[in-house]
Amino acid sequence: MIAEFRRGPRIPASAPRSTCDALRHNLRVPNANLILAARMADIEPFHVMDVQNRAHELEATGRRIVHMEIGQPDFSDYYRDRLGVTVPSSRIVVTAGASGAFLLTLAALVDPGDEVLMPDPCYPCNRHFVRLFEGRPRAIPVDEKQHYQLADADIRSHWSRATRGVLLASPSNPTGTMIPREELRAIIASVRRAGGFVVMDEIYQGLVYDGEASTVLELGDDVFVINSFSKYFNMTGWRLGWIVAPEVYVREIEKLAQNAFICPSAPAQYAALAAFRPETLAVLEERRQEFRRRRDYMVPALRDLGFRIPVMPEGAFYIYAGCESFSVDSTRFALRVLEEAGVAITPGLDFGSNRPERHVRFAYTRSLADLEEGVKSIARMLKGSRDAW
Ligand SMILES: Cc1ncc(COP(=O)(O)O)c(C=O)c1O
Repeated sequence: MIAEFRRGPRIPASAPRSTCDALRHNLRVPNANLILAARMADIEPFHVMDVQNRAHELEATGRRIVHMEIGQPDFSDYYRDRLGVTVPSSRIVVTAGASGAFLLTLAALVDPGDEVLMPDPCYPCNRHFVRLFEGRPRAIPVDEKQHYQLADADIRSHWSRATRGVLLASPSNPTGTMIPREELRAIIASVRRAGGFVVMDEIYQGLVYDGEASTVLELGDDVFVINSFSKYFNMTGWRLGWIVAPEVYVREIEKLAQNAFICPSAPAQYAALAAFRPETLAVLEERRQEFRRRRDYMVPALRDLGFRIPVMPEGAFYIYAGCESFSVDSTRFALRVLEEAGVAITPGLDFGSNRPERHVRFAYTRSLADLEEGVKSIARMLKGSRDAW
């Protein structure tokens, strides 16, 4: 059940900056350790949601209700059948992609000046989303020794009085690496102790190559999970994603969603219903195997050319490669690779300020034949111009 609001006094605009206490007072859930941005007190829900919730209650008693609203993919079954965790559908908010999910989650959690920890390198939008809400992204440099992921020790040593939470992704973009389960458990425990939030981006969840897909929801139901149909489900342009939120935050996130987007595209939601069918999942599994074949080709091929790839990416479809044996200006290098070899790769600059000039990212989203052609072209270029670097 979605946490409901008691009819209480409206929180005045002059309320103290931290309105958590006031909001907590309005919620039925007692003593919830809520982190809510002050702006949330000024945003009201669409009251039609109450009608919809009541309709579901009536249906549960056996009453027939004619629904004139949109369909919703059944995520709960997916979490149970594929990932072995029970997630009530009431905790799931469907969004316009993971991007929409980030916007809603951070709008609900981040106040101006709040610090949010994240690894560097990481997905570029993370720091921008935090800035959008006047928060302060605190990017912590990570390297191959920790598989380019934050460790519990990093969280503890960088947590300050201004820190409110941490943004993680496993597998990660751009490195494809994952956070080991026990490390993740320790991170969650530390953040819990500090009274902060954990947002975990699981957009590449289904795309893992050396083990089974898993979810952080196994480790706690107080974590915010962001996911999407864009990657594993291959529906990027349909702009559909979701949040699994701790129960007490759902109402807050929903009221933001109603105001910002009304709802994600209805045709996209209907289309996404097909994503959960067994025959679709079989196609997606075949696709995952194909990605594994591409990774297993690309990593050794790039290493042979002289790129530095110290850890095997375990998931996603990226390779974050050191290009320092060719150039310490990865942007210039990427442009030359494009001009001379006809291969488009991403310079490290997009992913943060932790030695980006020494890294480039390869995406293996094209066919094996294309990848082979690209690698051959780069090899020819490097052979011909090695002296020029
Ligand atoms: C780690 C990560 N999170 C989120 C997104 C955004 O996904 P969406 O297309 O669902 O908005 C991307 C897209 O590349 C991504 O790599």
